[in-house]
Amino acid sequence: MTANTHRVLDLFSCAGGAGKGYADVGFAVDGCDIADRPNYPFPYHRGDALEYLARLITTGEIERYTLGDGGGKATVTEMQTAMGITWTDVHEELTEAIPPAFARWIGHAFLTARQEVFA
Ligand SMILES: C[S@@+](CC[C@H](N)C(=O)[O-])C[C@H]1O[C@@H](n2cnc3c(N)ncnc32)[C@H](O)[C@@H]1O
Repeated sequence: MTANTHRVLDLFSCAGGAGKGYADVGFAVDGCDIADRPNYPFPYHRGDALEYLARLITTGEIERYTLGDGGGKATVTEMQTAMGITWTDVHEELTEAIPPAFARWIGHAFLTARQEVFA
């Protein structure tokens, strides 16, 4: 686990699948969902995600969730490095990209589970 003081705002959090992944690598996580989610494992706000986000922006509390050097827009090189995407330098493609690590993890879990079912 990596020591990390960054906070993730987990909007539309549901039970916290994504939030748990961030927590596993050391992020502090706060969730927000419109439904009551008593099993959510981190600090939780029940409410409309976009209204909550607007409130955090208005009050300045959003700064808690700012990453890196203050939240400026990432450069092409920073996006390439962060996601391991070296085959394009098109800004729009990088901002739209799902990081390959996400799909690698999901694909591995799927293939592993299928082997267990068929074994
Ligand atoms: C697909 S689930 C999210 C899964 C979650 N990200 C995870 O990793 O486990 C979508 C969630 O969005 C919530 N939701 C729908 N509309 C919402 C809104 N306006 N504000 C907050 N949450 C909302 C639903 O209650 C549901 O829990």
